[in-house]
Amino acid sequence: MQRFEIEGGVPLEGEVVISGAKNAVLPLQAAALLANGEMTIRNVPRLKDVATMASLLEGMGVTVSIDSENNITTNTETIETQCAPYELVRTMRASILVLGPLLARYGEAEVSLPGGCAIGSRPVNIHLTGLEAMGADIIVADGYIKAKAKRLQGATIAMETVTVTGTENLLMAAVLAEGTTYLENAAREPEVVDLANCLNKMGANITGAGTDTIVVEGVESLQGVEYSVLPDRIETGTYLAAAAITGGRLKCVNAAPETLDAVLQKFREAGAKVEVGDDWIDLDMRARTLKAVDIDTEAHPGFPTDMQAQFMAMNTVSQGIGVVVENIFENRMMHVAELMRMGANIRLEGNKAIVAGIPALYGAPVMATDLRASASLVLAGLAAKGMTIVDRIYHTDRGYEKIEDKLTAVGARIKRV
Ligand code: EPU
Repeated sequence: MQRFEIEGGVPLEGEVVISGAKNAVLPLQAAALLANGEMTIRNVPRLKDVATMASLLEGMGVTVSIDSENNITTNTETIETQCAPYELVRTMRASILVLGPLLARYGEAEVSLPGGCAIGSRPVNIHLTGLEAMGADIIVADGYIKAKAKRLQGATIAMETVTVTGTENLLMAAVLAEGTTYLENAAREPEVVDLANCLNKMGANITGAGTDTIVVEGVESLQGVEYSVLPDRIETGTYLAAAAITGGRLKCVNAAPETLDAVLQKFREAGAKVEVGDDWIDLDMRARTLKAVDIDTEAHPGFPTDMQAQFMAMNTVSQGIGVVVENIFENRMMHVAELMRMGANIRLEGNKAIVAGIPALYGAPVMATDLRASASLVLAGLAAKGMTIVDRIYHTDRGYEKIEDKLTAVGARIKRV
């Protein structure tokens, strides 16, 4: 199994080019199922999850080609089956995103029910009740969601919890439904807006994306288009955290600063100097004192759960005490025990972590338990005295393109072994 060896203590300095957003490209790949003709997605990050989604489409018979710049072109003319099998879904929960488009376009879908996950139970009940409200017949049998519908019908769907992929699935179903759909209590994440923009380019009629009510006037069909993926706000935030935790300075380019308001505000509160341009963010922590900050994760535009673990790592070596509360997932604190192996002073009370900053962490062997936990351990390793070995970095590879190359280029001593 591959791992990272990190020799900490180097303040990072330089420029990092941000990749396309994992959580935006996965729904766009699923949206390709709605398109007549060819659909090309640009600015696609080279990530395990993107490859898994491509395999899922190929398994259905969809033609998928990837060029040397990693632009992905799909054509659904060759589709043979509307089934997403357990073998792939169990490796990536976001596979559930094919359910809405398959049902809307082909009138049927069989998608393995995603199981639990390290960070929480993550049910998909809201996806299913929303599709049922649009007239789908759904049964769950043999571990599969089996859904059928003649043509989906527009409906008013009030989602009981804000769900990102739930909103995306229902949005992709509603675009081909007959009549108007109102998605209430919709997720406002930038990745939802990116999906709506792409669907509109394909010929859909969606308004209100980015607010909590999305209105979709169904259309008869959608065309394949070329679309470039939004920059990854969580990757951006993670590199900015790398500058902050090492007392360095990094400029993230090809970024989307407007998607990171809550995160940038917290970096400033932590004592960093943050400057922003149209598509770049510069964070300078040189000769400044890192201060502990309180974090409360919320749906967008609140502070994202996907940045919680990284700020926890920063708090461990900050001045003062920071209280980190995870409100989205019930089990997203697994990095706490690993950070404590590096000397961090953290008291965990359910979904709340009270972090008392210490002068330095010490390198240790640690184990990644999920994607963002793995990022927090890499950050801790970059700041720690001595050698940190981060094991199970297949989690990292799901969401960070060439992380060791990008970090090495700005001065980090990190090796994949
Ligand atoms: N929920 C339900 N029922 C549902 C759907 C969700 O109760 O039918 C609950 C979940 O259990 C959770 C809350 O609603 O407590 C929010 O979950 P959400 O559905 O928004 O999460 P998701 O769509 O499965 C996406 C991202 C996650 C990110 C969350 C929250 C993708 C592919 N994944 O997951 O990304 O943490 O939104 O912002 O977009 C990551 O990149 O590391 C990652 C986990």
